[in-house]
Amino acid sequence: MKISAYRTEDAIHIRQILTDVGWDERYIKAFEQAAEHLSQESHSAVYLAQLSNETAGFIFVEYRTWNRLAQIQGLAVAPSFFRKGVASELVKKVEDFARSQQARGIYVDTPINNDRGRRFYESIGYKLGYLMPQYYDDGLDGVTYQKFFY
Ligand SMILES: CC(C)(COP(=O)(O)OP(=O)(O)OC[C@H]1O[C@@H](n2cnc3c(N)ncnc32)[C@H](O)[C@@H]1OP(=O)(O)O)[C@@H](O)C(=O)NCCC(=O)NCCS
Repeated sequence: MKISAYRTEDAIHIRQILTDVGWDERYIKAFEQAAEHLSQESHSAVYLAQLSNETAGFIFVEYRTWNRLAQIQGLAVAPSFFRKGVASELVKKVEDFARSQQARGIYVDTPINNDRGRRFYESIGYKLGYLMPQYYDDGLDGVTYQKFFY
C-alpha cells in the first residue's frame, strides 16, 4: 500500500470514493473544499492510500495548538477496498503526523448510527469519549472516539 500527500488533481478521487460510499453531493462538495484547504495549512494534512494502482481511501487531519489534540476530519475507503487494512494504515499515518506536531492525542467524531465506523475505531483502540446530542442533524447524535498517546 502506498500513502501519499494530497495534490489538487486528487480531488476527483475523493469525489469518486464518496460517491461509491453513497454520500450526498453537499457532503462531497464540502469534503473537496476541506481537502484543498487542509492540504495547504501548516497544522493539517490530507493523505491518500493507493492499492493495486487505484486510490482506495483518504484521510484528513487537523492539529490544534491550544489543547494539543489532533482531529480526524474525514476518513473514507472505497467499498471495493473495505477490510483490507486501508483505513488502519491511513489512521497510522495521521497519528504519526499528530505525534510530529507534539500532540497529546487524537479524536474523531462520527454519527451514532455509523456502526461500521464505530467498530473500526474500537478495533484500533479508540475509546468512546462523549456523546453530542443532535450534532449531525435533528435526531442524529454524534459520538467522539479518542486516543491519547501517553
Ligand atoms: C470505516 C471504514 C473507514 C473502515 O475502513 P477499512 O479500510 O475497511 O478498515 P480496515 O480494513 O482497516 O479495518 C480494520 C479493522 O476494523 C474493524 N472493522 C472495519 N470495518 C468493520 C465492519 N464493517 N464491521 C466490523 N468491524 C469492522 C475490523 O476489526 C477490521 O479488522 P479485520 O478486517 O481484520 O477484522 C470504511 O468502512 C468506510 O470508509 N466507511 C464509510 C465512511 C466512514 O464511515 N468513515 C469513518 C467514520 S468518519
